[in-house]
Amino acid sequence: MTNWGNKFKTKNIDSENLIDHYNQYAQEFDDHVKNELCGNGENIPVVVTAKLFVETVPYQESMKILDVGAGTGEQGEQLAKLGYKNVELTAFDPSEGMLNMAKKRNIYSEFIQSYLPDTALASNYFDAIICVGTFTPGHAPAASLHELVRITKKGGYIVYSIRKHFYEDINSRFQTVEEELTQGKKWKMIAKREDEYLPLEKIKGYYFSFQVSRN
Ligand SMILES: C[S@@+](CC[C@H](N)C(=O)[O-])C[C@H]1O[C@@H](n2cnc3c(N)ncnc32)[C@H](O)[C@@H]1O
Repeated sequence: MTNWGNKFKTKNIDSENLIDHYNQYAQEFDDHVKNELCGNGENIPVVVTAKLFVETVPYQESMKILDVGAGTGEQGEQLAKLGYKNVELTAFDPSEGMLNMAKKRNIYSEFIQSYLPDTALASNYFDAIICVGTFTPGHAPAASLHELVRITKKGGYIVYSIRKHFYEDINSRFQTVEEELTQGKKWKMIAKREDEYLPLEKIKGYYFSFQVSRN
């Protein structure tokens, strides 16, 4: 069987064939991340982000949560395990193959096949957004953070993870856009953590929780 994960690692995939890549990688994705990138049988970025989400986002019955770059839906599974069950969870991803895997879990109530940075979704709608592995080189650009703020309710939360070296690379612009949003009083940081990300690749990650400003 072709190992699409390793193919992705060694080849510079441009945005044109990124979706095609994920469509073909979908069946192997979970096993590859858990066993060949993390090595402990868990999707570590998903587990750590879900933990930060639960610690920083107050639970409300029927709250609307958007999982951006939801992929195979491992994040939804993790949130459900941690008690986020009676929520309206929407999976957003450009790859039909990845979304088809997420559909099999029966956790998400809606599926949107689209991509950042322009979602065309309603403003001021979601109580919270969770985003893991989507702010990766060649994936969604830093400008997407403005879009996530737009579609989140005032007082709502945005929780995401990013590889440490990518965040610290000034050219990725994630620090710049985060700072623009903070200076513009669009959001405030609730938590920033450094933790494991993909240990077998010696990649560390940053995990953030922001609250969108009420005014
Ligand atoms: C590394 S996977 C992470 C999947 C899932 N969040 C997880 O952690 O298991 C990245 C996902 O981002 C999606 N993606 C790529 N570019 C995107 C974009 N511009 N906007 C939204 N999602 C994107 C891919 O289709 C893929 O499913």
